[in-house]
Amino acid sequence: MKTIALIGSPRKEGNCDQLVSKLFENMEGYTKKFYLNDVDLQFCNACQSCQKGDCIKDDDGRKIIDEMLDSDIIVFASPIYYGQMSAQAKTIIDRFYMISQNPEKSLEGKKVIQIFTQANPGDAFDGYIKSLETMPFAYMGMEVIDTIIAKGAAGKGEGIEDALKKIEELEI
Ligand SMILES: Cc1cc2nc3c(=O)[nH]c(=O)nc-3n(C[C@H](O)[C@H](O)[C@H](O)COP(=O)(O)O)c2cc1C
Repeated sequence: MKTIALIGSPRKEGNCDQLVSKLFENMEGYTKKFYLNDVDLQFCNACQSCQKGDCIKDDDGRKIIDEMLDSDIIVFASPIYYGQMSAQAKTIIDRFYMISQNPEKSLEGKKVIQIFTQANPGDAFDGYIKSLETMPFAYMGMEVIDTIIAKGAAGKGEGIEDALKKIEELEI
């Protein structure tokens, strides 16, 4: 089994990073983290080249999408920034366009585990996070099998205890 994690937080050893590490402790097979803030990840140009063949971007975004195509499980981890996923996380999602426009490439059947972290202790962003199951994940043929939200998580490692416990109890 191959699992990759797309980490949308710029903070190394931050809350997303720590939760992904905990998840990987119990996963069998190959695991790899991609820190989206640290790679060469360019925006989708909307040039439509992917409709005629392939994406023209020769960056790490392309390599990450290729790794996704070759994985069984994709962990999508992001902090909540102003009520939404981080810009780094959204940038890789926009790059999914190179697959949705290309009939030779498909993420159909890939499983997704969502991890979100937020300082807000309440349910303010639950609806937004739930909506991602439909768009972009189901739209791309992927199935969200688990969602972990660390609420009240501000400083690094603060307020993530419940989420760590939930991850420990996950049956994957
Ligand atoms: C630019 C920015 C915007 C943020 N916006 C929100 C927000 O809208 N709601 C919230 O609850 N927390 C917000 N936070 C707090 C982070 O979501 C929280 O600290 C999270 O646990 C960070 O995860 P990380 O350690 O993986 O980076 C924001 C933090 C930053 C830096």
